[in-house]
Amino acid sequence: MTAKIYSVIQCVTCSAPLFPGFRPTFASAIMIARASRQEDRDRLARAPKIAPNRNALHPFDRKYGTDTGGYLGPDELRAGTASDAMNNGYSAVAPSVFREACRRWRETLAPSNARIQAYTFVDVGAGKGRALLLAAELAFRKVIGVELNEDLARLARRNVNLWMNSSRLRGKIRVLHQDAMQFRWPRAPLLVYLNNPFECALVEKLAAKLAGIAASGPRLVDILYVNPGCADTLTGSGNFRLLWNAQIEMDQADRQADPYGAASDRVAAFRFRAR
Ligand SMILES: C[S@@+](CC[C@H](N)C(=O)[O-])C[C@H]1O[C@@H](n2cnc3c(N)ncnc32)[C@H](O)[C@@H]1O
Repeated sequence: MTAKIYSVIQCVTCSAPLFPGFRPTFASAIMIARASRQEDRDRLARAPKIAPNRNALHPFDRKYGTDTGGYLGPDELRAGTASDAMNNGYSAVAPSVFREACRRWRETLAPSNARIQAYTFVDVGAGKGRALLLAAELAFRKVIGVELNEDLARLARRNVNLWMNSSRLRGKIRVLHQDAMQFRWPRAPLLVYLNNPFECALVEKLAAKLAGIAASGPRLVDILYVNPGCADTLTGSGNFRLLWNAQIEMDQADRQADPYGAASDRVAAFRFRAR
C-alpha cells in the first residue's frame, strides 16, 4: 500500500484530522478508504495503478549509481514479523522535499541547541536508504537507518557504499535490518525521521518510546514526518507538539521521477513537549 495513498486514507477516515487541507494524491483513494481493509490491500497491491511512474530512473540514482527509486507495496515487503501487517510500503523521499524539510527544521533549533552536530538522525523505515544519503550531506553526529525488510536493508547498505565511494564522507551512516519496534535507541538529541512507514498503532508505540528517551535525557527529541498520516496520533499522545506543517513543492527533477506522479509532499515537524 503506498505510503502516500495510505496517509490520505487515514486522513479521510479520521474524525478530526489535524490537517484538514490534506490533499489526496489520487481521487480514487477516497473511494478506496470506504472499502474494507482486505479490499484495500487487494486494490492497492496493483502497483502500476498506484505508482504509474514506478520505473522512472531518478536523477539522484543516475548521479551516484545507486538504486533508491521505485515503489513496493506492503505485499511485496513481507518480512515474517508482526509488523508486516502495518507496513505502508516503499517509496523514497524526493530529495528537494527532504532538503527543504531539513532546512525548515534547522530554523526551529534554539540558539543553544543549534548545533546539528549534536543530533543523531534516525530514519525509521529506511527503505533503500535515500534519506540516509541525503541526511549525511548535513552535519549530523550520526546517521542511522532501521529497515524491516531484509532485501531493502541490503540494498540500502549497497547504496551507502556506492554513494560513499563517490563522495568524501566516511563511516557516518549505519543501516540496521530490524523492526523499528525492537530498535535500541541512541541517546538524545535525536531527529527521528518518518516517511509514513507504518500505521498509527505503531506510531503510537514509537511516540511512547521516544517520550521515555526524551524524559530521561536532554529532552531534545524532534520528529520530521513526511506524509504524516498519523500526525494526530503524535499530538494526541500529549508528548509531542506540532512545530510546523507544510506542503513542500518538489523541484522539476523530482516531479518527473516521482513514482506517484506527485508534485509536492506534506511534511510536519514535531518536538517533545518538555514539562
Ligand atoms: C515509504 S518508505 C520510506 C523510505 C525512506 N525512509 C525514504 O524516505 O526514502 C517506508 C519504509 O518503512 C519500512 N518499514 C515499515 N514498517 C517498518 C518497521 N516496523 N520497522 C522498520 N521499517 C519499517 C518499509 O519496509 C519501507 O521500506
